[in-house]
Amino acid sequence: MPNIVVIGTQWGDEGKGRIVDILSERVDIVARYQGGNNAGHTIIVDGKTIVLHHIPSGILRKGKVSVIGNGVVIDPKILLEEIEGLQKSGYEVSSDNFKISDRTHVIMPYHKLMDKASESRMGDKKIGTTGRGIGPVYEDKVARRGIKVSDLLYPEHFEQRLKSIIAQKNIYIEKVLEAQPLDFEEVFAEYIAYGQQLKSYITDTSLMLYENVKNNKTVLFEGAQGVMLDVDFGTYPYVTSSNAGAGGVCAGTGISPKTIDHIVGISKAYTTRVGEGPFPTEITDGFGEVLRKAGNEYGATTGRPRRCGWFDAVAVSYSIRVNGINSLMLTKLDVLSDLETIRVCTGYKYKDQVITDFPSNLSILTQCEPIYEEVAGWKSDLSGVSDPKDLPQNLKAYLGKLEDLLETEISLVSVGPSREEFIPLNNGLISI
Ligand code: GDP
Ligand code: IMO
Ligand code: MG
Repeated sequence: MPNIVVIGTQWGDEGKGRIVDILSERVDIVARYQGGNNAGHTIIVDGKTIVLHHIPSGILRKGKVSVIGNGVVIDPKILLEEIEGLQKSGYEVSSDNFKISDRTHVIMPYHKLMDKASESRMGDKKIGTTGRGIGPVYEDKVARRGIKVSDLLYPEHFEQRLKSIIAQKNIYIEKVLEAQPLDFEEVFAEYIAYGQQLKSYITDTSLMLYENVKNNKTVLFEGAQGVMLDVDFGTYPYVTSSNAGAGGVCAGTGISPKTIDHIVGISKAYTTRVGEGPFPTEITDGFGEVLRKAGNEYGATTGRPRRCGWFDAVAVSYSIRVNGINSLMLTKLDVLSDLETIRVCTGYKYKDQVITDFPSNLSILTQCEPIYEEVAGWKSDLSGVSDPKDLPQNLKAYLGKLEDLLETEISLVSVGPSREEFIPLNNGLISI
C-alpha cells in the first residue's frame, strides 16, 4: 500500500481508529499528526475493547512502528498510563516500536485549569471541549510560550523557561481565577520525572520518517477529530485547535507533501457530534435517542452522549473537496439495519436559496434547513456478510446514491465494531 492519510470527514468519532487498525496491517509505520488526548479511538480485538487517546492505532499490530508527530500535544501522565495499560494487556510499547517527536508540545497543569475555567466562564456560549487543555496548549505553542517534550530532558533550560512561564500563569490563576497559584518546584519535579520516563521514545521523528520513506517503507498518517472540527475549515469557533484535515499532516510530522499518495476519508453512515455548535442534520426528536442507543453513541474520551443526526452529504462533499479525498470508507451501516427508510441531506435551504457548498459563516449555517432525500432501508442483519455480492440490494442502492452525490468511490464498508466486521468494495484495500 502507498503512503496514505486517514481523516474523519464529519465531527469526529467516525470510526477512524478501527479503520486504521485494519489498514495498519498493510503499512510499516502509523503516525499521528495533530490533536492530543481529546481523541478517543476505539478498537475491538478478540472481544476486548481498547481506547487509544495519544498512541496511534497501529500499536496493536506486531512489527509496526507508531509515531507521535510534532503536531500532536501530549499529557505525559495520561500518556504514561496509556503505555502501561497497553503493556499490561500484552501489547509491545518499547523504544523499538514507539517514537515521540522531540518537538511535540506538552500539556501542563495550567492548560487544563484554563480550559475548564474558560468553559465555565462562557456559560451557555461554551464550546463543550473535552477539558483536556487542548485549546490552551495550542494557544501557547503559537504564542511561543510552549514547552516541548525535549525541554523536559534539559533541566537547566527547562527550569529557566518554566519559572518565567509559571510566574505569568500564576498572575492569571490568582487574579482572574481566584485560585491557588501553582508551585514551581512541584511542577518542575513532576515534569522532569515524566521526561525521564519518556526519554527512550523521544527522537527526531521528522528525520526518522524521511529516512524510512527514502528506504521505501510506507506510512499511514492517522487523523484525530474530523474536518468539521478543523480549526480552519470546521464550524469555527465550535472546533478543536488543530488542523484535523490532510493539511495538518506535513506541518504535524515534518514530511513533504510529495510523500502523500492517497487520502482516505472516513464517514459514519449517519452523523454524530459531541459538544456544542451547529449541526444541520441533528435529529432533535426521540429518534435521535433511538439512534444513540443503536449506535452506542457515547464519547470514547468523556463518556458524554453524542448528538445524532442523518448523513449530511453537503458537509461530507465539502470535506472531500477541501482535503482532496480519493476514496471513502463508510462505518456503522449495521446501526441503520432496522430502519424502513433512511434520510440523506442533499442540500441546505437558506432563506429562498438552496446551498450545496458548506457555508463558512455561522450566521448563515445556523439558519440552514436540511433538504432530505429518502431511500428505502434494507431491513436485514448484516452480521456475517463478508462478500460485497451478499449485501442487500437496498444497501447497494444506498451506497450508489452516496457515491453519486459525493462523486467519490466508497472503498470499504464496516458492519460491526470488531476487527473482522468490514467489507472491502471496488478492490478498495488492494487498489489504493
Ligand atoms: P474514532 O474516534 O473515529 O476512532 O471513533 P470512536 O472510537 O470514538 O467511535 C466509533 C465507535 O463506533 C466505537 O465505539 C467503535 O467501536 C464503533 N464502531 C466502529 N465501526 C463500527 C461499525 O461498523 N459498526 C458498529 N456498530 N460500531 C462501529
Ligand atoms: P476523535 O479523534 C469528537 C470536540 C469536543 C468539542 C471540540 C473542542 O475521537 O474523533 P477540544 O477538547 O478539542 O478543545 O474540544 O472538539 N472533540 C471531539 N469530538 N471526537 C473527537 O476526537 C474530538 N476531539 C475533540 O467535543 O466539541
Ligand atoms: Mg473518538
